[in-house]
Amino acid sequence: MPNNTAEQISIERDLTDRVVSSFEGTDDPRLRELLGALVEHAHAFVRETRLTEAEWTKAIEFLTAVGDITDDKRQEFILLSDVLGVSMQTIAVSNPAVHNATEATVFGPFFLDDAPEVPIGGDITHGAAGELCWFEGTITDTDGNLVPRARIEVWECDEDGLYDVQYGDERMAGRSYLYSNDHGEYSFWGLKPVPYPIPADGPVGSLLSVTKRSPLRAAHVHFMVSAPRLRTLVTHIFVEGDPQITTGDSVFGVKDSLIKTFVRHAAGEATPDGRNLGQVQWFSTRFDIVLAPSDTAGGTAQK
Ligand code: BEZ
Ligand code: FE
Repeated sequence: MPNNTAEQISIERDLTDRVVSSFEGTDDPRLRELLGALVEHAHAFVRETRLTEAEWTKAIEFLTAVGDITDDKRQEFILLSDVLGVSMQTIAVSNPAVHNATEATVFGPFFLDDAPEVPIGGDITHGAAGELCWFEGTITDTDGNLVPRARIEVWECDEDGLYDVQYGDERMAGRSYLYSNDHGEYSFWGLKPVPYPIPADGPVGSLLSVTKRSPLRAAHVHFMVSAPRLRTLVTHIFVEGDPQITTGDSVFGVKDSLIKTFVRHAAGEATPDGRNLGQVQWFSTRFDIVLAPSDTAGGTAQK
């Protein structure tokens, strides 16, 4: 029988107030605000759910396991933030919608900052296996001005759902960067993306399994696009018709505006760059990217 007498409510409220006040001497006002809000919300969670000491111990054990499996190659805390939707919520507040600007989505753990450069029309697969796909589009600002020399980082997994960093050797494949041309256009050869599971052999995988959630991500290709005076965009494109879009992306990254048509071309059909692909079908897709002004980054508090 919960004790919700005025005395009990006052004891609990008083503790929260004292902990929040303990941070009053913090010089950095933003840190003070964040710590105060963290304590308010954490205490409210404990009070509302009537959290037991045994449950809190279990939660601490879970977080300890998340820490134990984390090293310089594997970041289980980010994965936890991803599957709880906290990463996407942070992205939502940090990248406020700007009328026609392309929407952002989750960064994920598989970006490398030393991928090789390819020219316009180049091949970012570097031998990664899968069905070839021609990607093309433009980079513009929100006023429709074409953006030359925008830096476009692209990374994706192979047909087995593996990123090169998961191969266990030093190979770099399925990633590159290129620059838009003088007309703000870009194109490259990559792979038609496939759905793949996020790493599910650790505590976050156990959380998904006990809650009967799938570890699968909807098929996607990652893009990070930057240009002077424009907001850096971290995003993906998804494949129209991918069943995983409706059954649920494990990290809540799908946005309708990012779902693109991947057109199938029969073997032997001429490619946009006159390449001879032999007896294999190939795909093509278009992704026109609109970058918001750099002074539109978020962070304004909203209750
Ligand atoms: C990814 O898309 O690469 C990814 C995102 C979140 C968690 C795991 C993987
Ligand atoms: Fe990914």
